[in-house]
Amino acid sequence: MGKLQPARGTRDIFGEDARRMEAVTAAFEATARTYGFQLLATPIFEFTEVFARPLGESSDIVTKEMYSFSDRGGEAITLRPEFTAGVARAFISAGMQQSLPVRLMSHGPVFRYERPQKGRYRQFHQINAEFIGSETPETDVEMITMAWRLLEGLDIDDKVTLHLNTLGDRESRTVYRDRLVTYFGAHKVALSQDSQRRLDTNPMRILDSKDEGDRAVVEKAPPLDESLTQASRDFYARVEDGLGACGVPFTRNTRLVRGLDYYTHTAFEFITDALGAQGTVIGGGRYDGLIEQLGGPPVPGMGWAGGLERLSLLLDAAPSVQRPVVIMPMGDAAIQAALSLAEDLRAAGNTVIADRTGNLKKRLTRAAKAGANHAVILGEDELAADMVTLRDLDAGDQESLPRKALTDRLAGRS
Ligand code: HAM
Repeated sequence: MGKLQPARGTRDIFGEDARRMEAVTAAFEATARTYGFQLLATPIFEFTEVFARPLGESSDIVTKEMYSFSDRGGEAITLRPEFTAGVARAFISAGMQQSLPVRLMSHGPVFRYERPQKGRYRQFHQINAEFIGSETPETDVEMITMAWRLLEGLDIDDKVTLHLNTLGDRESRTVYRDRLVTYFGAHKVALSQDSQRRLDTNPMRILDSKDEGDRAVVEKAPPLDESLTQASRDFYARVEDGLGACGVPFTRNTRLVRGLDYYTHTAFEFITDALGAQGTVIGGGRYDGLIEQLGGPPVPGMGWAGGLERLSLLLDAAPSVQRPVVIMPMGDAAIQAALSLAEDLRAAGNTVIADRTGNLKKRLTRAAKAGANHAVILGEDELAADMVTLRDLDAGDQESLPRKALTDRLAGRS
């Protein structure tokens, strides 16, 4: 047995990290529920074609980052690099278009072969929300507002800025594409190999390039703004107006393009400068053609995903957990009684750890390490008298009381 480390870019998550991620997930579920969302759990792997075309054959994710393999039956399989395409696939295969719109929330691990660094992993976790079946800009407003309420609820809204943009409708993008081809074509020699290839496949991807030479050319590229149709401008104006009405602050970022191909109209990211280079904590937008592209009906969609690890890193403090009560049967005769007493205390809402081994001193030390506030000691004398000893581990004192009175005493009622 050689390597005991987890594979590069993956982590074992436990202790405080796990508590943070649990708290963000719980807040996400609670917030999304108030907007009418229901849980959808999609498979962790799908046929590769579910992701390849929708995300973009020339996107970084598809060309460089997917975990794809052929399984033992020879099927081309990919570990999900995101939720949206799988949710759209599930929407079609479950026939959900019968009752539109649908609001679907999901969370779980996703996989991208990226260069690991702080806040960037190869297996990471997303919370994801998709609103499918509404074409109005007010849906975009509602979705972005939902993300903002989550950030407020987690008390990290002051650490992020909402960057908002529109990518326009298909017509706007065809016009823009032509303008970009002309512009980048004139600067072809200054572009990286990758971007020269993108010029033929998907020139808008060049805007997203991280290559320094490309960046210099991109700086002076014509903005998408000028190619927007009137309908796209009107749509976007209603998004801005709605966000204003909901009190969600934003800044317009005309350079925001997102790394996935399926977006139309609204695109947005919540960005922080508290995490170094990996500043995007939530990203999303509208994807009106995706479901049709996957072979479904022409149903529009809008959604976003947040990186759980990044959101967790932004939390000020790990959320506290309920301090346990440790029950300590001293001697075999007390074990059964302790078990049933522990069940009673749990039923009353306490967190109870049963510690059945070692002498009292050892058990008290362990209880302190576990962060317990009380120890309940049940020895033979106590058993005979139907009493327990309750030790307050913070104050260091103890009292004897009837077994029946314990639940109320721990609830602070007597
Ligand atoms: P995305 O921007 O690719 O969008 O990812 C969403 C979020 O996942 C990012 O904002 C970031 O917080 C987190 N994330 C991405 N890559 C990593 C990584 N390697 N390590 C840690 N966290 C990461 C999507 O995935 C779209 N499906 C969002 C969407 C939903 N659009 C419409 N509906």
